[in-house]
Amino acid sequence: MPIFRKKKSQVQAILGTQWGDEGKGKIVDLLSEEADVVARYQGGPNAGHTVEFDNDKFILHQIPTGMLRSHVRCYIGNGLVIHPESLLDEIHTLEATGLSVIPRLFISPNAHLIMPYHRLIDRASEDAVNGEKIGTTGRGIGPAYADKANRTGLRVGDLFENPDWEQKVRISIQARNPILEKVYQTETVDEEKAVESLKRFRSTVATCVDDVTWRLREDIRRGDRVIVEGAQGTMLDIDFGTYPFVTSSNTTVGGMCTGLGIGPRSIDKIIGLVKAYTTRVGNGPFPTELKGDIGERIRIVGGEFGATTGRPRRCGWFDAMVVRHSVQINDIDCLAMTKLDVLDQLGEIHLCIGYKLDGIPLNHIPSCAAIYERVEPVYEILPGWMDSIAGLRSYKDLPQAAKRYIERIEELVGSRIEILSVGPKRNATIYP
Ligand code: GDP
Ligand code: IMO
Ligand code: MG
Repeated sequence: MPIFRKKKSQVQAILGTQWGDEGKGKIVDLLSEEADVVARYQGGPNAGHTVEFDNDKFILHQIPTGMLRSHVRCYIGNGLVIHPESLLDEIHTLEATGLSVIPRLFISPNAHLIMPYHRLIDRASEDAVNGEKIGTTGRGIGPAYADKANRTGLRVGDLFENPDWEQKVRISIQARNPILEKVYQTETVDEEKAVESLKRFRSTVATCVDDVTWRLREDIRRGDRVIVEGAQGTMLDIDFGTYPFVTSSNTTVGGMCTGLGIGPRSIDKIIGLVKAYTTRVGNGPFPTELKGDIGERIRIVGGEFGATTGRPRRCGWFDAMVVRHSVQINDIDCLAMTKLDVLDQLGEIHLCIGYKLDGIPLNHIPSCAAIYERVEPVYEILPGWMDSIAGLRSYKDLPQAAKRYIERIEELVGSRIEILSVGPKRNATIYP
């Protein structure tokens, strides 16, 4: 029997508590300084995780954020859907900066492939006149996960373990092309181009395909430090989010187990990422959305434009109902709050402490999006601090009003803020 050498908080998980873009990239990068492994468990190129340091800015989509630290190994778990061509682009972009990527990247053979027809279907479904527009990233995420559930998907392993892989790819394209043409009335997939692209992918990542689950188990047994990196956020979870305005994976804590093959007891600490206000890209309920000047100011000051699609993000006040829901669903141990600096110049800050539906207080988030659209937020108004906090590095130096805002949020959501970010760079961080 191997000796069990697990350290305290050896496996730390990071996930979004709102509608994504909470600043997971910044915090994963920060914590990966002391990690050996960073592993993604769900999503795909719909994610855009930004990291800034020195004069560089990186946006990671499919490669775990740990890749920016040259000592970290990065795992792409079975729970992801990956787009081969954009993964190659990402690898080459990172390698061009001098990072060694291939020797540190490990991809589960059970991860599913996003095929060109998945992207075409995603875009055509969104363009359908009578369909409910979700406002997806157009990256083929939903159709790829649909094929996974339908057992008609292609997996990374198919390209390596199956000698007839090319035939399998061709058959799947031939089966989809008439559907693309007749049902979706969109362009079809060029079979030769698709096969060529997969050949390039095969030759580049051949050494990366590995049993990620086994690796993780060994890492944990050895005492290596692991960060599990979530994409999207709890409110975009396919089960617990604002369905159908969600993504197609379990972004929440359970997704870590099914998307990597680790048991819940392997995770020692669950860190919820929370932005000091709320944003959402795409459609769906957003009770605290600010449609006027204040929302616009937050968007400009916070640079709230999608890291993947460049779309303007919808902005609104902090919603404690949403974050409390996330704290409970994910068993969150502590929070990391980002972008508090963005609120610096607001004279008053609203904090949503509850909802009302037809004048009656609600103590939960409605599961039906149509009802959720109708709820009215109940606000508490707090004074702003009207001062720049971006240069501060110690909690005690924060203006009193900023401390009051933070402490009220902790009280409302039932979790402590252990990391506070006041700027995009690594050092713009306070540990309260
Ligand atoms: P993610 O998807 O959760 O990784 O978040 P994104 O990268 O999509 O969006 C977060 C944005 O906020 C990025 O542009 C970050 O550089 C930036 N950011 C992160 N933390 C802070 C912060 O504390 N203050 C400010 N002003 N920007 C931040
Ligand atoms: P990160 O990891 C914010 C949103 C899309 C759309 C919905 C479904 O950077 O936080 P999809 O393409 O997944 O089928 O789109 O989910 N969405 C995100 N919003 N941050 C993300 O990732 C997102 N990934 C998907 O805008 O509303
Ligand atoms: Mg993002």
